[in-house]
Amino acid sequence: MRALSWREWWTVTAVLLVSACGGGKAGGGEPAAPASGAGSATDLSSFELEHGIGPVKEEVTLGTLDQALLAKGTEVFKAKCTACHKMGEKYVGPALGEVLTRRTPTYVMNMILNPNEMVERHPIAKQLLAEHMTTMANQGLSVDEARAVVEYLRTQAKGTVKTK
Ligand code: HEC
Repeated sequence: MRALSWREWWTVTAVLLVSACGGGKAGGGEPAAPASGAGSATDLSSFELEHGIGPVKEEVTLGTLDQALLAKGTEVFKAKCTACHKMGEKYVGPALGEVLTRRTPTYVMNMILNPNEMVERHPIAKQLLAEHMTTMANQGLSVDEARAVVEYLRTQAKGTVKTK
């Protein structure tokens, strides 16, 4: 029996590689290698899918309305967000009046605190970027300021706000 020529050897190897990759995909679960730039949703944890990617890693829950926090949040929002957001209609960014009826408080905070990574990796934020064709600039808020803005946003909603 003769040895395989280089050309035959290469063909066999290529076929094996292709089927190995296909098998990996069909296997489900964690991908063997991290997804590249295209960023599939599967590299996010279920916490990140629900609550966003960013510095807030524990679920934030809303209790009774805190008036001091509300006053601070109103001020921060007027100074740093009104250039791009309105409550009842789309502006540079999406309308935010009902944002807490569709996203969790934690998600909203992570979007405020880490917008660049959110639009790169989170499927919802990516979709919004595609619709608005502008990126939300990081406004440099502290975690406390972002929490205060959530207190303001909850007072703007007409629908039922997600409290966690
Ligand atoms: C330069 C314009 C700009 C500024 C300033 C800005 N945003 Fe945004 N925002 C956007 C855009 C555009 C999007 C849609 C996602 C994207 O393209 O980055 C967005 C998305 C969001 C979302 C996600 C909405 C959803 O439905 O998921 C929230 C929450 C948000 N912004 C809150 C804020 C807050 C709070 C501030 C102030 C601290 C702020 N933004 C400042 C442009 C801006």
